[in-house]
Amino acid sequence: MNNQKRLPRAAITGLGVYLPSKILTNNEIATFVDTSDAWIMQRTGIRERRIAGPEETSLTMGLEASKKALVSANLTGDQIDLVICATATPEYIFPSTACLVQDAVGATGAGAMDLSAACAGFIYALSVARAYIVSKMARNVLVIGTETMSRVVDWTDRSTCILFGDGAGAVVVQAAFDDAPALGEIESVVLKSDGSKGCHLLIPGGGSKMPASEESARDRQHYIKMNGPEVFKGAVRGMADAFHQALKMGDLQLGDVDLMVAHQANARIIEGVRSRLDLPTSKVYQNLERYGNTSSASIPIALYDAVRENALKEGMRVGVAGFGGGFAWGAAIIRWGNVPIIA
Ligand code: UT7
Repeated sequence: MNNQKRLPRAAITGLGVYLPSKILTNNEIATFVDTSDAWIMQRTGIRERRIAGPEETSLTMGLEASKKALVSANLTGDQIDLVICATATPEYIFPSTACLVQDAVGATGAGAMDLSAACAGFIYALSVARAYIVSKMARNVLVIGTETMSRVVDWTDRSTCILFGDGAGAVVVQAAFDDAPALGEIESVVLKSDGSKGCHLLIPGGGSKMPASEESARDRQHYIKMNGPEVFKGAVRGMADAFHQALKMGDLQLGDVDLMVAHQANARIIEGVRSRLDLPTSKVYQNLERYGNTSSASIPIALYDAVRENALKEGMRVGVAGFGGGFAWGAAIIRWGNVPIIA
């Protein structure tokens, strides 16, 4: 008899989101830049996005999502061992937004760190949570994706300001110790990157290369600069390839997947990934029409809506894929569990 104990598996057991109440429609954007609802809908599939109010920040939104994720998982903050916050729009350069959440949820025994992988941040953070759990370095991990993109978007640049929105999502990832298949298990994860393409999607100012100055502010260097077509191509190719590799790592076929939730960047990008994978349209979930691209928050927000709308149910296998600045991208396959939705 083999007495060797199986390693713990990592399972998503809690999920929460926060979205600001203020809605900004395409028609409203068309009042201050040269664009139209028809152009934005046709090229992106986005109709409206949420915008943080003056009191809302990456911390406040991430915290609200975290509190709901903890209730959903039936855990209290003091049971968390590690807080990972994926964000491209942190509260400060330091301290980390994760430390601020750690304090606010009372995770007094936890480590905390921010993770920088732009729009791929949630997949990256999920992979770190899984690795900590499988290696027995943590039992309960809080993973957050939170973004205040409206504060780094150049509202005079029509090619980028139409794309992004604000919001936050959080999941609790827990160790599952028994031999039975763990519902909610993150079955496989793949991470990829190509730093040679970093120039195509970045915020040039505010780091060590270009600290804030009158000149950098005047030249609008603290806002997102993007080469849309390059990012588009990279996203389609990257997410489809990572999805394939995640399936392979999990010893799974495409037919084993019930739903794909890709980073909600652009409906045409998602369609490109779907067609490259040859997945039926019925297996693709999309909610970007309502929220635009919320960067690292888009996947947990989409998972939440998919559960709420009954598109994602216990026992289904969901493939998630993300892509963003870096370039950094990745995919994960999750056997969805009984994750209560907290309104
Ligand atoms: O999480 C990753 C973050 N980034 C992304 O996901 C973005 C990926 N890229 C995209 O989604 C697309 O490239 C965009 C939606 C940004 C642009 O769509 P496109 O089909 O690639 O258009 P394009 O950049 O090739 O521009 C076509 C035309 C240009 O006019 P000219 O040069 O052909 O006269 C643009 O100036 O569309 C013009 N344009 C617009 N027109 C009306 C660009 N933005 C707008 C706009 N309204 N908002």
